[in-house]
Amino acid sequence: MAAVLEVRDVTKSFGGIRAVDGVSFSVQEGEILGLIGPNGSGKSTLVNCICGTLQNETGSVRFADEALDGLTAHQRTRRGLARSFQLPRPFASLSLAENVRIPLLYTVNARDSSALASAAIDARCLEVLGQVGLAGKAERLPRDLTQIEMRKLELARAMAAEPKLLISDEAMAGLSHAEVDEIIALLIRLNEQGVTVIMIEHIMRAVMEFSQRIAVLVAGRKIADGDPKDVVRDPEVVRAYLGE
Ligand SMILES: Nc1ncnc2c1ncn2[C@@H]1O[C@H](COP(=O)(O)OP(=O)(O)O)[C@@H](O)[C@H]1O
Ligand SMILES: [Mg+2]
Repeated sequence: MAAVLEVRDVTKSFGGIRAVDGVSFSVQEGEILGLIGPNGSGKSTLVNCICGTLQNETGSVRFADEALDGLTAHQRTRRGLARSFQLPRPFASLSLAENVRIPLLYTVNARDSSALASAAIDARCLEVLGQVGLAGKAERLPRDLTQIEMRKLELARAMAAEPKLLISDEAMAGLSHAEVDEIIALLIRLNEQGVTVIMIEHIMRAVMEFSQRIAVLVAGRKIADGDPKDVVRDPEVVRAYLGE
C-alpha cells in the first residue's frame, strides 16, 4: 500500500500558543483513520493545515506523491483532497442541487473542462445527493433541512469533488444513535468506493466501529497512533483523553 497522505512535523501557532506542535502521520490508500483528542487539542487546525485553509509554520504535507506546500485550498481540492467542516457551511440562498453543483464545477469539471456536459452535471448532482439520501430535496434550500440532513449535505458537497481523500470533521456531533449509524454507513460506503477517509469524532462508539487505525492528539501533539484496541488501552491516552 502507498501512502496517499504524508504529514511531516507540522506546527501551527496562534498568538504564541502551539495549536499543532510537530505532528507527523501518514495515511495509506484506502485506509480509514480515526483522529481523536479533547476539545482544543488541534484536530481542526491540523485539518486546516492539510487542506490549505491555514498555512503551517513548519513541516510539510504530501498528497498523492506531490508536495502541497504553497498550494491554496482550492488547488488542493482539485487534486482530490476534500473535507467537511465541523460547522456546515452551505450556500444559504442556493438549492441543495446548486450547493453540490458549485464544488463539482470547481473540481471535477476544472480537471477536464470537456468532462461533463450540462445535462450530465445535473445528473451527477442528483447522483451525489442520492448517495446521501437527499435526492428528493434537490430543489429545497438548506434552511429546510434537519440537523442530520445538513450534515449529509455537508458530506455531499465534499463528495461532489470526487475526492481521493475525505476528511470528516465531527460530522456526528449532536446526532442520535441511529443518525450516527447512518453517517457511519455513508462513510463506509464511500470507503468501499475507494475513498480514503480520515474521521475526526468524539463519539467513541463511532470511532471504534469505523476506524482501522486511530491517532490521538493532546495539546497539539500526537501521543498515540496504532491499532484501535491498543490505542484505547494506552495508559497515556486513558489519562489524557478517555479518562476525562
Ligand atoms: N483561528 C484561530 N485563532 C486563534 N486560536 C485558534 C484558532 N483556531 C483554533 N485556535 C486555538 O487552537 C487550539 C486548537 O483548536 P482546534 O484545532 O479547533 O481544536 P479541536 O478541533 O481539536 O477542538 C485551541 O486552543 C483553539 O482555541
Ligand atoms: Mg475541531
